[in-house]
Amino acid sequence: MRISVIGCGYLGAVHAAAMAQLGHEVRGIDTDERRIRLLTAGTAPFFEPGLGDILTSMLATGRLRFSTSVADAAEAEVHFLAVGTPQSAESTAADLSYVDGAFEALLPHLAPGALVVGKSTVPVGTAARLAEWLARDAPHASLAWNPEFLREGLAVQDTLEPDRIVYGVADARSAGTLDHVYARAIAAGVPRIVTDYATAELVKVAANAFLATKISFINAMSEIADVVGADVTVLADVLGHDSRIGRGFLNAGAGFGGGCLPKDIRAFAARAEELGRGESLAFLREVDTINLRQRQRVVDLATRILGGSVYRARIAVLGLSFKPHSDDVRDSPALDVAVQLHGLGAEVVATDPEGIENARSRHPQLTYVSSIRDALDQAQLVVLLTEWEAFRALDPVLTAELVADPRIIDGRNVFDPLVWRAAGWEYHGLGRP
Ligand code: UGA
Repeated sequence: MRISVIGCGYLGAVHAAAMAQLGHEVRGIDTDERRIRLLTAGTAPFFEPGLGDILTSMLATGRLRFSTSVADAAEAEVHFLAVGTPQSAESTAADLSYVDGAFEALLPHLAPGALVVGKSTVPVGTAARLAEWLARDAPHASLAWNPEFLREGLAVQDTLEPDRIVYGVADARSAGTLDHVYARAIAAGVPRIVTDYATAELVKVAANAFLATKISFINAMSEIADVVGADVTVLADVLGHDSRIGRGFLNAGAGFGGGCLPKDIRAFAARAEELGRGESLAFLREVDTINLRQRQRVVDLATRILGGSVYRARIAVLGLSFKPHSDDVRDSPALDVAVQLHGLGAEVVATDPEGIENARSRHPQLTYVSSIRDALDQAQLVVLLTEWEAFRALDPVLTAELVADPRIIDGRNVFDPLVWRAAGWEYHGLGRP
C-alpha cells in the first residue's frame, strides 16, 4: 500500500521504517529539516536499537522516503498521524496543537477514499472531533484510530510484532484497509480488536495508566518496607507469582519517567475533569505524587548518607536516560535527581551510555563524562538511577578501589546488597533492608 507517516519522532520514524519493512511504499513527513536530513541519510535521529539498520535497508529498496513537505503525502492511500501530544505549557492536559496542525495541513492533500489513521496518544473524544472536521472539509476521506503500544528501546520489534492491534473505526471499509496494512501480523495470529473511536483512544491511556499505577503501587510498598525493614524486591517476586497480578512493572526504585507515562496520566486525569468525572481518576494524581516522591526520596537519602548535606560532596550519578536502551531524558527521574543534587551544591559527575547529549542540552550546568571510571573517580557517593547493563555489570570490589568512599544508592534495586556489603560497601536500596 502507499502510506504516509506524518511526524517522524520516536513513534513515527520507527513506524515509517517498519511499514516499509512490511512491503509498503512509505513517505515519512516531518517539518523538522534536520530530522528529515538525518533520516534520508539512513541515520536514526535518536538512539533506538535496530532502527539504523532497518532505515538503511529500507531506504536502499526505494520503498522508504522522507520529506518536509506534506504535499508529498498526497499519493498515499493511508496516512498515519504520529505527531507528539506533549503536556500543555499551561495545564496538565495534552497539547493537541501538533495533531490539529498536522491534520489541517493534510486535509487538502487527501485523495478520494484515503484513510487517515491516528496513532498519537490523545484525550478521548479527539477522534470524534477530527472525524466531524473530516466530514466537513474532506468528506471523500475517512478516519480511524489505531493506538500504538511500542516501548522505547524495543520500538522496532514492538511495531513489527505487536502483541495486539486495535482499530477504532466508524465503518467496516476502514477496518478492511487497516487489515491490508497489518496483513502480516494478522496472518501470524496477533489479536486484532475492532472497536469505536472512544474505546480505541481509551485503551491506550488506560494501559499506560495501569502500568503507572503498578509502578507507584510497588513504590508505595517500598516506602512501607523501608519503615519496617522488609524487602520490596522479595515482596514483588512473591506478588508476581500470582498470575492475576504478574511480576512485570513491579520494580520499585526512582520511579517512571519518559515522554509517555507521566504526561499520559496527567492528561487522562485532566480529561476526566473536563468530562465531569474528575473523581474517577483522582487516584492518578496520587500515582503521580507517589512517583515524584521517589525522586525526592533518593535526594533525601543522599543527604542523610552524607551527614545532613550534599554540599560540595562529589557524587557519581550513573544514568541519565529515563530507562535503559534509550537516549530519551524527557521527564527522566535520573536527570531530575542529578539536577536536584547539583542544585543543593553537590559536585555531580554524571554518565550514561546514550543520554549525555540530550541531558547536556537541557542541563548544561552538570558535569558529564563518557567513562564510568571517570564518573566514579574519587566519588563520595555513587547513585545508580538507570539500570543499563554496563552499570549492572560493575564489580563491587574493583569499583570500591575507584571511589573515595564506598557508599551506594541503588536507585533501581538491581544489585545484590549482600555481595556489595561483602565488598565493603555501605549499600542503600529503596525498600530494602
Ligand atoms: C510506555 C508503555 O510501556 C508503552 O506500552 C507505550 O506504548 C509507551 O509508553 C507510549 O505511550 O508510547 P515507554 O515510555 O517506552 O513505554 O517506557 P516503559 O518501558 O513503560 O517505562 C516507563 C518508565 O517506568 C521508565 O522510567 C522505567 O524505568 C519505569 N519503570 C518500569 C519502573 O520504574 N518500574 C518498573 O517496574 C517498570
